[in-house]
Amino acid sequence: MILPLVIMNAILLVIAIVLIISEKYLVTYGECKITINKEKILAVQGGNTLLNYFADNKIFVPSACGGKATCGYCKVEVLSGGGHILPTEEVFIPRQDRIKGVRLACQVKVKNDIDVLISPDLLEAKEIKITVFKIADLTPDIKHVVLRLDDPPAIQFKPGQYVQFKIPETDEFRAYSIASSPLQRNIIELVIRLVPGGLCSGYIHEVLDMYDHITLTGPFGDFYLREDSERDIICIGGGCGMAPIRSILLYLKSKNMPRKVMYFFGARSKRDLFFTEELRELEKQFPNFKYIPALSEPKPQDNWDGETGLITQVVERMVPEGPNQEGYLCGPPPMIDASIKVLTKKGVHEMYIYYDKF
Ligand SMILES: Cc1cc2nc3c(=O)[nH]c(=O)nc-3n(C[C@H](O)[C@H](O)[C@H](O)COP(=O)(O)OP(=O)(O)OC[C@H]3O[C@@H](n4cnc5c(N)ncnc54)[C@H](O)[C@@H]3O)c2cc1C
Ligand code: FES
Repeated sequence: MILPLVIMNAILLVIAIVLIISEKYLVTYGECKITINKEKILAVQGGNTLLNYFADNKIFVPSACGGKATCGYCKVEVLSGGGHILPTEEVFIPRQDRIKGVRLACQVKVKNDIDVLISPDLLEAKEIKITVFKIADLTPDIKHVVLRLDDPPAIQFKPGQYVQFKIPETDEFRAYSIASSPLQRNIIELVIRLVPGGLCSGYIHEVLDMYDHITLTGPFGDFYLREDSERDIICIGGGCGMAPIRSILLYLKSKNMPRKVMYFFGARSKRDLFFTEELRELEKQFPNFKYIPALSEPKPQDNWDGETGLITQVVERMVPEGPNQEGYLCGPPPMIDASIKVLTKKGVHEMYIYYDKF
């Protein structure tokens, strides 16, 4: 009984491989038209994904996972010609969006004429050529990378947004939040944590050097400071979640800190804290800004007399109750999920809690 099952599986596997290979090398789809926002038409030789055709035509849809269907960032609306949604897309696209035709551009293969809608914001994203200006250690596994823009020489972005870093000699991109002020338009600062075995963070930590030329795309993202609000601001960060929050704080600084801000930053021990002096300076300059770092595992040599425990416990202790507050959260997914729970318990409306998880 087991042997025929094994043989059957082997035959099915061979058939699947033959189909994939023949689709790749033998099937041709001829010329297809991709119509974007009912106006721009791309004439392409079918067979590749929407995401790749966009990139070929310098339309930079975010693709933090490089087309592996794991980030869910490359959403566009397909009005016609996209075929059925794939199982790889379902997890990212809620039912109400499926009805509208929302799809992952990296999963839609162009086999015929296709009509798509792309958010006008994404059409604003550019390719940005930069030169590395400074690389320095912030913690044992986090580097501060300062990039000077060459072409274009300046960009506009909202504090909190991110760019994508193209890994040289590959077609792979990774997302990195901008850690600098949007008013400093010719410089982009990033804060990069080394992920063990990570392709891009490994490249940045081990290969990237001063004066290297690199390509970015962007800016992207809907995690950014809402300037039309007067609510008090609660920022919660962990690790490289510092980056977009620093951009927001530097921007608020340049506006003379018009709103009350509490910034909670969670780290394991003192060696994982960074930008501390800069944030303490900000506190001195603006009494309506409070920086509250907390260590979850302080070492005896840290001589730490600040807050201890999980950052969510500290938030629970220190944030006042009340709806007139909004949250900007950035860090690892479990920290963000737990922080959202704490803030909503405090009366902060979920629609005023903005976050990026990574
Ligand atoms: C919107 C956004 C903003 C981001 N901003 C920043 C930022 O400012 N600074 C920063 O350092 N990173 C940031 N990231 C994460 C970054 O995009 C990359 O995912 C990260 O650098 C890992 O890429 P890699 O190529 O080094 O690892 P990969 O080669 O992609 O992955 C290697 C292995 O590590 C695992 N892995 C990937 N990411 C993580 C992780 N974060 N923790 C643990 N394991 C992981 C993978 O599953 C894989 O097994 C951001 C991500 C997003 C979506
Ligand atoms: S590029 Fe990440 S899901 Fe499409």
